[in-house]
Amino acid sequence: MCGIIGYAGARQAAPIILEGLAALEYRGYDSAGIAVLDADGIPAVHKKSGKLVNLAAALQGSLPEGVTGVGHTRWATHGAPTDFNAHPHTDCDNQIIVVHNGIVENYVQIKEDLISQGHEFTSQTDAECIPHMIESYIEQEYSFEEAVRASAREIKGANAVVAISTRDPGKLVAFRLGNAGGLVVGYGQDELFLASDLPALLPHTQEVAYLAGGEMVTLDNHSANYFTLDGMSVTKTPMHVAYDALSAAKGEYKHFMLKEIHEQPEAIINSLRGRVSFNDLKVVLDEFQISDADIARIDRVVFLGMGTSFNAAMVARNWMESLARLPSEFDNSSEFRYRDPVIDENTLVVSLSQSGETADTLAAMEKAQENGALQLTLCNYPGTQTTRIADHTMLLRAGLEIGVASSKTFTNSLISLYLLAIDIGTRRGVLEESRRRDMFAELARLPDLLGQALADESQYEVLAQKFGRRSDFLYLGRGINFPLAMEGALKLKELSYIHAEGYPAAEMKHGPISLIDDEMPVVALMPRDDLYEKMLSNVNEVKARGGTVIAVATEGNEDIKKRVDEVIYVPEVSSLINPVLMAVPMQLLAYHIALWRGCDIDQPRNLAKSVTVE
Ligand code: F6R
Repeated sequence: MCGIIGYAGARQAAPIILEGLAALEYRGYDSAGIAVLDADGIPAVHKKSGKLVNLAAALQGSLPEGVTGVGHTRWATHGAPTDFNAHPHTDCDNQIIVVHNGIVENYVQIKEDLISQGHEFTSQTDAECIPHMIESYIEQEYSFEEAVRASAREIKGANAVVAISTRDPGKLVAFRLGNAGGLVVGYGQDELFLASDLPALLPHTQEVAYLAGGEMVTLDNHSANYFTLDGMSVTKTPMHVAYDALSAAKGEYKHFMLKEIHEQPEAIINSLRGRVSFNDLKVVLDEFQISDADIARIDRVVFLGMGTSFNAAMVARNWMESLARLPSEFDNSSEFRYRDPVIDENTLVVSLSQSGETADTLAAMEKAQENGALQLTLCNYPGTQTTRIADHTMLLRAGLEIGVASSKTFTNSLISLYLLAIDIGTRRGVLEESRRRDMFAELARLPDLLGQALADESQYEVLAQKFGRRSDFLYLGRGINFPLAMEGALKLKELSYIHAEGYPAAEMKHGPISLIDDEMPVVALMPRDDLYEKMLSNVNEVKARGGTVIAVATEGNEDIKKRVDEVIYVPEVSSLINPVLMAVPMQLLAYHIALWRGCDIDQPRNLAKSVTVE
């Protein structure tokens, strides 16, 4: 949730840290801070509540000097977003400086013990106990590194921590506990970096190594040494990541999210590349190479995710049932982890997490692992936590997604799940060649169709002007488009702060219909498919009660114009693949309404790109 960056090298640390924080601000943005050690090891610590611009303004262009430092952008868990609660935190003598991501579950006890030893606290955070713990070990003659290790062993919960010390200038010591809260080491020329996520490192290096839970690293300007928390040395070879700094730039677009929405046709091409064999009408998933015997023993599929990933999981159930004829279900990871689910070695658990860090999804996967399930995970970044638990990983290949609200990772999740269902259906012998031929022909056209759906943005500007002031929206869909109604409502809520609900259209009569009036627009997802007439009935019910309907309908359906107030058209495709195209109006309507309302689109309030706490 929070963003961490650390630097040890020969260049001035402060500009690198501030630039890194800007790249990580999507992870949390209620306060930010920086600490730099000068040539004599004297620390300069600056922190400010609010977004990074507040910190930059407080520094007024006079950056602290020094070649070692840490920075932090915060998403509050304990203590309000104030200057005092912002990171970095220090010990009583300002000698130990710490940035932290996660929750120290036993901090109340630790803090009480430290206060009874005479330590003085200045914040309400759980993080502040960490520099004081390190200080107390140093008072017992531990070295800096040993003191950090001893502290790490006492802390409970999923946490990532980076510490620097005035006694050891030039050195960073970091550790990671549990699955949540990533830490990546970046290897430069005579300089090393530490960050919670790749975007902060990519302007400097593409050679990286991930810290696993229960590991620690000490680094300076020329080397990184890895250990377990027992002090055993760990060997790591840096890996090359393919994303470059350019792909993270906004380019011609006003927001990263808009850029990412428009990148969807290309992202889809990337997700199909090498996985679809148009000649022999087969899907080839190198990442999911399991034997025919393993395919045959799968008797159930469970899809897991949170937020947008959960909405993709809901769509996937339809595909797995229809194309592979396998009993399938979906669940929020956060609910699944606390149930007593019936899972065994014949269950295929497919987890979705673009970040690969979502705490609830990690816990749900651990539960599935305990029950012996076969696990496939879908994730946008290699080496993340979900990929360590799963037996197989399918990368989303969406490229960096900086906007906090998911867009291209959603559509690439859908495509990956569609391919998975085709693969399993083919291997189970239940998906005939003639059907596959049509599906493959459609897949080949999909990037172009998506481009067409993206072509006319002016209609969304008009709709934003008309409806931007409304305070509630209802999204209705049926069948495979119901999850898209949920996704549309989620996008609108998170981007524009307008209250919105997604409902299966028939469910409207069982309650929400009492809300219908001329103030609450109803977005009806009604492509031409088997359920179109049913959707039309629901739309008539809304109109009969004086409601306003914005229909999302299939190109060429002129009749619908007479029946509703507004129409957004999407190109015609088969009903199974419709959700991929439906994603575009869901995203663009929310984007333009949020733009019209002046909202912070790339960083909506209270949200974070990786939700590494429960
Ligand atoms: C919505 C959004 C969130 C995430 C959710 C899960 O636009 O971005 O709802 O989908 O936090 O995140 P991942 O996919 O990283 O597990």
